[in-house]
Amino acid sequence: MRISDNIFPFFLLAFIIISGASSAFSNNDFLECLTLQFQKSNSESDSIYTPKNASYSSILQSSIRNLRPASNSTQRPIVIITPEHESQIQAAIYCSKKHGIQLKVRSGGHDFEGLSFVSETPFVLVDMRNLRSISIDTDKKTAWVQTGAALGELYYTIANKSRTLAFPAGVCPTVGIGGQFSGGGYGMMSRKHGLAADNIIDAKLIDANGRILDRESMGEDLFWAIRGGGGTSFGIVVAFKLKLVVVPEIVTVFNVTRTLEQNATHLVHRWQYIADKVEDDLMLRLFLTSFNSSITGQRTVGANFRSLYLGRVHDLLPKMREIFPELRVVKEDCIEMSWIESELHFNNLPGESLDILLDESVFSSAYTKGKSDYVRQPISKHGLKRIWEFLIEEGEGNAELQFSPYGGRIGEISESEIPFPHRSGNIFMIEYSVFWSAEENTESERHINWIRRLHSFMARYVSKSPRAAYVNYRDLDNGRNNIYRSTSYKQASVWGFRYFKNNFRRLVQVKTKVDPTNFFRNEQSIPPVSPW
Ligand SMILES: Cc1cc2nc3c(=O)[nH]c(=O)nc-3n(C[C@H](O)[C@H](O)[C@H](O)COP(=O)(O)OP(=O)(O)OC[C@H]3O[C@@H](n4cnc5c(N)ncnc54)[C@H](O)[C@@H]3O)c2cc1C
Ligand SMILES: *[C@@H]1O[C@H](CO)[C@@H](O)[C@H](O)[C@H]1NC(C)=O
Ligand SMILES: *[C@@H]1O[C@H](CO)[C@@H](O)[C@H](O)[C@H]1NC(C)=O
Ligand SMILES: *[C@@H]1O[C@H](CO)[C@@H](O)[C@H](O)[C@H]1NC(C)=O
Ligand SMILES: *[C@@H]1O[C@H](CO)[C@@H](O)[C@H](O)[C@H]1NC(C)=O
Ligand SMILES: *[C@@H]1O[C@H](CO)[C@@H](O)[C@H](O)[C@H]1NC(C)=O
Ligand SMILES: *[C@@H]1O[C@H](CO)[C@@H](O)[C@H](O)[C@H]1NC(C)=O
Repeated sequence: MRISDNIFPFFLLAFIIISGASSAFSNNDFLECLTLQFQKSNSESDSIYTPKNASYSSILQSSIRNLRPASNSTQRPIVIITPEHESQIQAAIYCSKKHGIQLKVRSGGHDFEGLSFVSETPFVLVDMRNLRSISIDTDKKTAWVQTGAALGELYYTIANKSRTLAFPAGVCPTVGIGGQFSGGGYGMMSRKHGLAADNIIDAKLIDANGRILDRESMGEDLFWAIRGGGGTSFGIVVAFKLKLVVVPEIVTVFNVTRTLEQNATHLVHRWQYIADKVEDDLMLRLFLTSFNSSITGQRTVGANFRSLYLGRVHDLLPKMREIFPELRVVKEDCIEMSWIESELHFNNLPGESLDILLDESVFSSAYTKGKSDYVRQPISKHGLKRIWEFLIEEGEGNAELQFSPYGGRIGEISESEIPFPHRSGNIFMIEYSVFWSAEENTESERHINWIRRLHSFMARYVSKSPRAAYVNYRDLDNGRNNIYRSTSYKQASVWGFRYFKNNFRRLVQVKTKVDPTNFFRNEQSIPPVSPW
């Protein structure tokens, strides 16, 4: 006893020195390995950044969209690689495998928990920003898009070729193709055309053995898994092939807001009975925030109905009068425009030149926390009033709820067609968000607690067993993997079934087959099951 008491600290000290030294060595070994692999494929080293390179920080920070996880992290990538060619991705995979260093991949950097750019262990970052080419085939109505491109670029490039072709994905132009399409991709045309992932027809993926695979060579199981199973788990997707959709030359948008004083509670309640049932051409999305009324001076809630109709105003108005007369939408509320102009409109950029869709710095980063839910039964007026109390408590400009209708094409596709399982029976999805400024970051816990309290209050109104959530609105409160040891199927099932329902089983099977050593991993990646 006494002897071991005495030697223990020495033992520990020796261990710390050895492990500290070995990690410094392995970082250098990694860099040497990478340089060598780059030379072998005649690649320039100017797509390798270490903290010693002057532009390392700006490259790292330029696509950090959520400052909350960044402000709380201690690790920075030991190397950032911005590949211009697939061989450089293969080199990164080869060397991180050889030296046991975690690899993370980033496309647009919008992950809600920052999983593409923060880590608790040393890591290398493969940033896809230079792999962003887009080629459109207007005759076949298809497109190949590399994953480093952002949504705005995809939309711009399609619109530059055709006024009647489009793609059904998210609204925010700076979101990356790589992350969003890997997890689903919901947008203003999803009720008509399904999710982005529903419209992927081929892909180019680099697996854990560095092989470059397409749909045919990867097989249908793996091709199934990468269309909605969430980024990271199965490899690095270099490009997706998309089936484009046909849109009318002119579409109609409207944006009307009603406050509590203008019957918002009644209108939102009513909306729940129609939003998922109206014809597929009509998307009636709802945004809820609280603000100080200029009339009463008191805090109120605004229900902002933002809509896209794939048709003309003269067809829309009679429909609105029939299905939702209480909203009293009139001609003056409606604007006709092209589909690509509606993309500017929904980003509050009306009248801007289309070039702004290519501008990666159009929106500034914020400190945020997000969550999601699925609503299968209308929420009572009493329930809505409690939600307003939460919004009013959090105050002006700090929080927003988005109610995004399902139904239409989303609900027609079977739950197991792709890993994204949230299909028929869902009326709408809720996205909860809370934001704060750098000055307020000392109070981050208060904001995070607010959203957690609201989410736990909502349990009675939303889906149960499992309480479903959208993987693209990543939330580590749903559960997380172990960092230093393997994660059991049971442990991962907690978040796995929320995001993927029964598809989680098949995702684990595919993972076990294609990446049994769990090379591609993060805090919420699909774990392989070990044979023992
Ligand atoms: C402002 C904002 C608006 C949003 N709007 C919508 C919306 O309208 N509809 C919607 O459905 N979602 C929306 N989202 C959610 C968004 O779809 C997800 O956050 C998505 O994961 C972001 O993709 P990214 O490439 O920008 O993110 P990243 O942070 O780069 O990646 C997200 C995840 O995917 C992995 N990944 C990234 N690239 C690859 C790749 N090439 N191969 C393999 N894995 C990869 C990353 O490692 C990470 O785990 C929004 C998010 C934000 C912040
Ligand atoms: C970073 O520095 C190294 C060593 O000086 C150099 O070889 C490399 O090209 C630099 N990378 C960039 C992106 O400039
Ligand atoms: C910061 O990280 C710590 C440890 O991981 C965690 O307990 C804490 O909740 C995090 N804070 C925020 C604001 O995310
Ligand atoms: C848009 O199309 C025009 C004509 O084909 C072309 O000259 C222009 O470069 C395109 N813009 C971009 C950014 O691709
Ligand atoms: C509010 O809705 C009620 C029905 O619940 C209706 O009688 C009333 O006229 C509406 N008020 C306004 C201002 O629209
Ligand atoms: C809004 O009203 C609340 C009281 O209802 C007040 O405390 C707050 O300062 C007001 N905010 C603004 C921006 O006027
Ligand atoms: C819709 O209206 C709200 C408030 O009335 C406004 O803040 C927002 O900018 C508008 N959005 C669009 C897309 O026009």
